Amino acid sequence: MYETIQILHSYWAYLVLLVLVLAGLNALIGYTGSKTFANKDLRISLFGLILSHIQLLIGIVLYFVSARFALWGELGMGGIMKNPEARQLLVEHPTTNIIAIALITIGWSKHKKQSTDKGKFGKIALFYLLGLILILSRIPYNLWFS
Ligand code: HEM
Repeated sequence: MYETIQILHSYWAYLVLLVLVLAGLNALIGYTGSKTFANKDLRISLFGLILSHIQLLIGIVLYFVSARFALWGELGMGGIMKNPEARQLLVEHPTTNIIAIALITIGWSKHKKQSTDKGKFGKIALFYLLGLILILSRIPYNLWFS
């Protein structure tokens, strides 16, 4: 069970990052080029939202089935914060990603309230790229590529 979820979370990460990069850059190009917000722009942004929400759900399940979760009982809060690997996987990675996905969700809902194409692209570009930067800042790269 743990292994399957971990593999899924690990491969889903490629999809999420790819689509967030595409959606964020597409919105930035649309914003700076004053383009029309077309159906394809809506679809790629929605795709980024859905894929990142699925990763959030997989991540939450992984958190509780991972053997690392037992470290809370063994080390306590103080011990976890003093251990860089445990701190990254049990505190920093999950909280940063939850904030990142909340930002992406805010961007999606704000873009819907915009009446201009520039406004729509602007909200997606700002919130998706901010979310992406946060996600990239706390990925456990050593685990991912090992
Ligand atoms: C877009 C959001 C996220 C991305 C791109 C992402 C990506 C990753 C990657 C690439 C790894 C390394 C996997 C490996 O070992 O190959 C990982 C590990 C992990 N992630 Fe995420 N993650 C995200 C969100 C979350 C969230 C929201 C949680 C929990 C609430 C979470 C919990 C974990 C845990 C616990 C591990 C370590 C698993 C282990 O014990 O080996 N992730 N994540």
